[in-house]
Amino acid sequence: MYTEKVMDHFQNPRNVGEIENASGVGTVGNAKCGDIMRIYLDIDENQIIRDVKFKTFGCGAAVATSSMATELVKGKNIQEAMQVTNKAVMEALDGLPPVKVHCSLLAEEAIHAALWDYAEKNGIKIEGLEKPK
Ligand code: FES
Ligand code: FES
Repeated sequence: MYTEKVMDHFQNPRNVGEIENASGVGTVGNAKCGDIMRIYLDIDENQIIRDVKFKTFGCGAAVATSSMATELVKGKNIQEAMQVTNKAVMEALDGLPPVKVHCSLLAEEAIHAALWDYAEKNGIKIEGLEKPK
């Protein structure tokens, strides 16, 4: 049912934890299942994501997608991080079972919420970024 990559990221999730004094923090909940995800971004003066950590109270697919999403945004600038959509994360994991697709939305939404927090704190605008619900 799950691809090898999903199982790998579920069993050995990358970038789990918190960042103290993070540049941006985003917390989102999944309306469908009640699972919660929080993402911390450490962004340098050149708007590069220097570090990223996540915490998830959620299912295995939520853990795996968060883990992969953090790997995909690390080292990118904030504009490039906007390209890390749930579709991109799912592709990087070689797919998810259809009933688990909603889990991948959490990672994208949490990254967007953290970027929004960073943008607000710094008085900047990120192209294509909408205010989190
Ligand atoms: Fe329980 Fe997602 S509904 S882990
Ligand atoms: Fe809800 Fe996976 S079942 S995030």
